[in-house]
Amino acid sequence: MLILIDDADPKAIEDTLSFLPVDGVTTNPAILARYGADPLATLKRIKEILPFGSQMHAQLVSTTTEGMLAEAAALRETLGEHIFVKVPVTREGYAAMPLLKQRGFYITATGIHSAMQGFMAAKAGCRYIAPYVNRMDNYGISGVRVAADMHRMLRAQGIQSDVLAASFKNSEQVLELVRDGIGAITAAPDVLAHLVSNPATDMAIHEQNADFAGLVGGPMTWADLVAATGEK
Ligand code: G3P
Repeated sequence: MLILIDDADPKAIEDTLSFLPVDGVTTNPAILARYGADPLATLKRIKEILPFGSQMHAQLVSTTTEGMLAEAAALRETLGEHIFVKVPVTREGYAAMPLLKQRGFYITATGIHSAMQGFMAAKAGCRYIAPYVNRMDNYGISGVRVAADMHRMLRAQGIQSDVLAASFKNSEQVLELVRDGIGAITAAPDVLAHLVSNPATDMAIHEQNADFAGLVGGPMTWADLVAATGEK
Protein backbone atom coordinates (compact mmCIF):
# COMPACT_ATOMS: atom_id res chain seq x y z
CA MET A 1 0.00 0.00 0.00
CA LEU A 2 1.30 3.45 -0.90
CA ILE A 3 1.33 6.20 1.70
CA LEU A 4 1.34 9.71 0.26
CA ILE A 5 1.65 13.13 1.87
CA ASP A 6 -1.32 15.39 1.15
CA ASP A 7 0.44 18.73 1.50
CA ALA A 8 2.37 21.38 -0.42
CA ASP A 9 4.61 22.86 2.27
CA PRO A 10 8.15 21.73 1.38
CA LYS A 11 9.25 21.93 5.05
CA ALA A 12 6.37 19.75 6.22
CA ILE A 13 7.06 17.31 3.38
CA GLU A 14 10.76 17.13 4.23
CA ASP A 15 9.93 16.60 7.89
CA THR A 16 7.58 13.71 7.06
CA LEU A 17 10.08 12.18 4.63
CA SER A 18 12.74 12.31 7.36
CA PHE A 19 11.02 9.67 9.51
CA LEU A 20 8.17 7.92 7.71
CA PRO A 21 8.19 5.44 4.81
CA VAL A 22 6.17 7.52 2.35
CA ASP A 23 5.88 7.15 -1.40
CA GLY A 24 5.16 10.64 -2.66
CA VAL A 25 2.99 13.73 -2.46
CA THR A 26 -0.49 14.70 -3.53
CA THR A 27 -1.60 18.29 -3.86
CA ASN A 28 -4.80 20.05 -4.78
CA PRO A 29 -5.58 23.71 -5.53
CA ALA A 30 -6.72 24.42 -1.95
CA ILE A 31 -3.61 22.83 -0.46
CA LEU A 32 -1.42 24.96 -2.73
CA ALA A 33 -3.43 28.06 -1.80
CA ARG A 34 -3.00 27.24 1.90
CA TYR A 35 0.77 27.13 1.44
CA GLY A 36 0.52 30.44 -0.37
CA ALA A 37 3.60 30.56 -2.60
CA ASP A 38 3.71 30.51 -6.40
CA PRO A 39 2.06 27.13 -7.17
CA LEU A 40 4.30 26.14 -10.07
CA ALA A 41 7.46 26.99 -8.13
CA THR A 42 6.05 24.99 -5.20
CA LEU A 43 5.46 21.90 -7.35
CA LYS A 44 8.99 22.18 -8.76
CA ARG A 45 10.42 22.44 -5.25
CA ILE A 46 8.43 19.39 -4.10
CA LYS A 47 9.75 17.45 -7.07
CA GLU A 48 13.33 18.33 -6.04
CA ILE A 49 12.72 17.20 -2.46
CA LEU A 50 11.15 13.85 -3.29
CA PRO A 51 13.41 10.81 -3.57
CA PHE A 52 13.77 9.36 -7.07
CA GLY A 53 10.79 7.18 -7.99
CA SER A 54 8.33 8.96 -5.69
CA GLN A 55 4.90 9.89 -6.95
CA MET A 56 3.75 13.48 -7.37
CA HIS A 57 0.09 14.30 -8.05
CA ALA A 58 -1.09 17.73 -9.23
CA GLN A 59 -4.71 18.63 -9.87
CA LEU A 60 -6.01 20.21 -13.06
CA VAL A 61 -8.08 23.37 -12.55
CA SER A 62 -9.65 23.81 -16.01
CA THR A 63 -13.40 23.35 -16.24
CA THR A 64 -13.38 22.30 -19.92
CA THR A 65 -12.12 19.04 -21.38
CA GLU A 66 -9.88 20.85 -23.87
CA GLY A 67 -8.47 23.00 -21.09
CA MET A 68 -7.68 19.91 -19.02
CA LEU A 69 -5.79 18.33 -21.91
CA ALA A 70 -3.75 21.51 -22.42
CA GLU A 71 -3.02 21.84 -18.70
CA ALA A 72 -1.96 18.21 -18.38
CA ALA A 73 0.44 18.63 -21.30
CA ALA A 74 1.90 21.79 -19.76
CA LEU A 75 2.38 20.09 -16.40
CA ARG A 76 4.08 17.10 -17.98
CA GLU A 77 6.33 19.42 -19.97
CA THR A 78 7.44 21.19 -16.79
CA LEU A 79 7.37 18.46 -14.16
CA GLY A 80 8.25 15.39 -16.19
CA GLU A 81 6.45 12.41 -17.64
CA HIS A 82 5.92 10.68 -14.29
CA ILE A 83 3.56 13.34 -12.96
CA PHE A 84 0.09 12.10 -12.00
CA VAL A 85 -2.61 14.49 -13.18
CA LYS A 86 -5.58 14.66 -10.84
CA VAL A 87 -8.80 15.01 -12.80
CA PRO A 88 -12.04 15.95 -11.03
CA VAL A 89 -14.97 13.57 -11.59
CA THR A 90 -17.04 16.19 -13.39
CA ARG A 91 -18.71 15.60 -16.76
CA GLU A 92 -15.77 17.38 -18.45
CA GLY A 93 -13.30 15.42 -16.34
CA TYR A 94 -14.80 12.06 -17.35
CA ALA A 95 -14.57 13.16 -21.00
CA ALA A 96 -10.90 14.08 -20.52
CA MET A 97 -9.90 10.81 -18.82
CA PRO A 98 -9.80 8.46 -21.85
CA LEU A 99 -8.15 11.18 -23.94
CA LEU A 100 -5.46 11.69 -21.32
CA LYS A 101 -5.02 7.93 -21.05
CA GLN A 102 -4.52 7.72 -24.86
CA ARG A 103 -1.83 10.38 -24.53
CA GLY A 104 -0.03 8.29 -21.94
CA PHE A 105 -0.81 10.27 -18.78
CA TYR A 106 -1.03 8.74 -15.33
CA ILE A 107 -4.42 9.84 -14.05
CA THR A 108 -5.86 10.12 -10.56
CA ALA A 109 -9.59 10.77 -10.45
CA THR A 110 -10.40 13.14 -7.62
CA GLY A 111 -13.32 14.65 -5.71
CA ILE A 112 -15.05 11.27 -5.45
CA HIS A 113 -18.07 11.00 -3.13
CA SER A 114 -19.63 7.73 -4.30
CA ALA A 115 -18.52 4.24 -5.32
CA MET A 116 -19.98 4.53 -8.81
CA GLN A 117 -18.15 7.80 -9.49
CA GLY A 118 -14.96 5.94 -8.67
CA PHE A 119 -15.83 2.86 -10.67
CA MET A 120 -16.61 4.89 -13.81
CA ALA A 121 -13.36 6.83 -13.46
CA ALA A 122 -11.42 3.57 -13.23
CA LYS A 123 -13.22 2.30 -16.31
CA ALA A 124 -12.33 5.56 -18.10
CA GLY A 125 -8.63 4.78 -17.59
CA CYS A 126 -7.60 6.32 -14.27
CA ARG A 127 -4.73 4.62 -12.46
CA TYR A 128 -6.06 5.81 -9.09
CA ILE A 129 -9.48 6.81 -7.86
CA ALA A 130 -9.55 9.11 -4.84
CA PRO A 131 -12.59 8.98 -2.55
CA TYR A 132 -12.85 11.80 -0.01
CA VAL A 133 -13.30 9.72 3.13
CA ASN A 134 -13.81 12.37 5.80
CA ARG A 135 -15.92 14.60 3.58
CA MET A 136 -18.28 11.66 2.99
CA ASP A 137 -18.38 11.06 6.75
CA ASN A 138 -19.42 14.72 7.14
CA TYR A 139 -22.38 14.05 4.82
CA GLY A 140 -23.45 11.11 6.96
CA ILE A 141 -22.09 8.48 4.55
CA SER A 142 -19.35 6.13 5.78
CA GLY A 143 -16.35 7.21 3.71
CA VAL A 144 -14.37 4.19 4.82
CA ARG A 145 -17.16 1.84 3.69
CA VAL A 146 -17.45 3.55 0.30
CA ALA A 147 -13.66 3.36 -0.22
CA ALA A 148 -13.63 -0.32 0.78
CA ASP A 149 -16.59 -1.01 -1.57
CA MET A 150 -14.70 0.63 -4.42
CA HIS A 151 -11.67 -1.55 -3.75
CA ARG A 152 -13.86 -4.66 -3.86
CA MET A 153 -15.54 -3.46 -7.07
CA LEU A 154 -12.21 -2.98 -8.81
CA ARG A 155 -10.93 -6.38 -7.79
CA ALA A 156 -14.24 -8.14 -8.61
CA GLN A 157 -14.24 -6.54 -12.07
CA GLY A 158 -10.57 -7.25 -12.71
CA ILE A 159 -9.77 -3.57 -13.29
CA GLN A 160 -6.13 -2.68 -12.74
CA SER A 161 -6.80 0.61 -10.93
CA ASP A 162 -6.42 1.27 -7.22
CA VAL A 163 -8.22 3.27 -4.60
CA LEU A 164 -6.17 6.22 -3.35
CA ALA A 165 -8.23 7.23 -0.36
CA ALA A 166 -7.97 10.90 0.62
CA SER A 167 -9.39 13.43 3.05
CA PHE A 168 -8.59 11.81 6.38
CA LYS A 169 -8.94 13.40 9.75
CA ASN A 170 -7.82 10.58 12.02
CA SER A 171 -5.79 7.37 12.29
CA GLU A 172 -8.80 5.10 12.74
CA GLN A 173 -10.08 5.94 9.24
CA VAL A 174 -6.67 4.99 7.82
CA LEU A 175 -6.40 1.81 9.88
CA GLU A 176 -9.70 0.43 8.60
CA LEU A 177 -8.60 0.90 5.00
CA VAL A 178 -5.20 -0.68 5.59
CA ARG A 179 -7.13 -3.68 6.92
CA ASP A 180 -9.22 -3.77 3.74
CA GLY A 181 -6.09 -3.88 1.58
CA ILE A 182 -6.71 -0.76 -0.49
CA GLY A 183 -3.92 0.41 -2.80
CA ALA A 184 -3.01 3.83 -1.42
CA ILE A 185 -3.90 6.58 1.01
CA THR A 186 -2.92 10.22 1.18
CA ALA A 187 -3.09 12.25 4.35
CA ALA A 188 -1.80 15.47 5.86
CA PRO A 189 1.53 15.36 7.73
CA ASP A 190 -0.14 15.57 11.16
CA VAL A 191 -2.47 12.64 10.41
CA LEU A 192 0.52 10.60 9.15
CA ALA A 193 2.57 11.46 12.25
CA HIS A 194 -0.30 10.28 14.45
CA LEU A 195 -0.22 6.88 12.72
CA VAL A 196 2.96 6.11 14.66
CA SER A 197 2.98 8.34 17.74
CA ASN A 198 1.68 7.09 21.07
CA PRO A 199 2.35 8.68 24.49
CA ALA A 200 2.39 5.19 26.07
CA THR A 201 5.33 4.30 23.82
CA ASP A 202 7.21 7.45 24.84
CA MET A 203 6.57 6.68 28.51
CA ALA A 204 7.69 3.05 28.24
CA ILE A 205 10.91 3.92 26.42
CA HIS A 206 11.64 6.78 28.83
CA GLU A 207 11.25 4.46 31.83
CA GLN A 208 13.47 1.76 30.28
CA ASN A 209 16.20 4.27 29.48
CA ALA A 210 16.01 5.74 32.98
CA ASP A 211 16.53 2.24 34.43
CA PHE A 212 19.49 1.71 32.11
CA ALA A 213 21.02 5.06 33.09
CA GLY A 214 20.67 3.99 36.74
CA LEU A 215 22.54 0.76 35.94
CA VAL A 216 25.49 2.40 34.13
CA GLY A 217 25.69 5.53 36.29
CA GLY A 218 24.39 8.15 33.86
CA PRO A 219 22.79 8.77 30.49
CA MET A 220 25.31 6.64 28.58
CA THR A 221 24.75 4.82 25.30
CA TRP A 222 26.16 1.50 24.13
CA ALA A 223 28.64 3.51 22.03
CA ASP A 224 29.83 5.28 25.22
CA LEU A 225 30.19 1.96 27.03
CA VAL A 226 32.15 0.37 24.18
CA ALA A 227 34.40 3.46 23.91
CA ALA A 228 35.03 3.33 27.68
CA THR A 229 36.47 -0.20 27.34
CA GLY A 230 39.00 1.07 24.76
CA GLU A 231 37.95 -1.77 22.38
CA LYS A 232 37.17 -1.14 18.70
O1 G3P B 1 -6.42 15.86 -1.76
C1 G3P B 1 -7.80 15.86 -1.62
C2 G3P B 1 -8.32 15.63 -0.26
O2 G3P B 1 -7.30 15.22 0.56
C3 G3P B 1 -9.14 16.72 0.36
O3 G3P B 1 -9.00 16.69 1.72
O4 G3P B 1 -9.01 17.77 3.91
O5 G3P B 1 -9.89 19.02 1.93
O6 G3P B 1 -11.14 17.08 2.87
P1 G3P B 1 -9.82 17.71 2.66
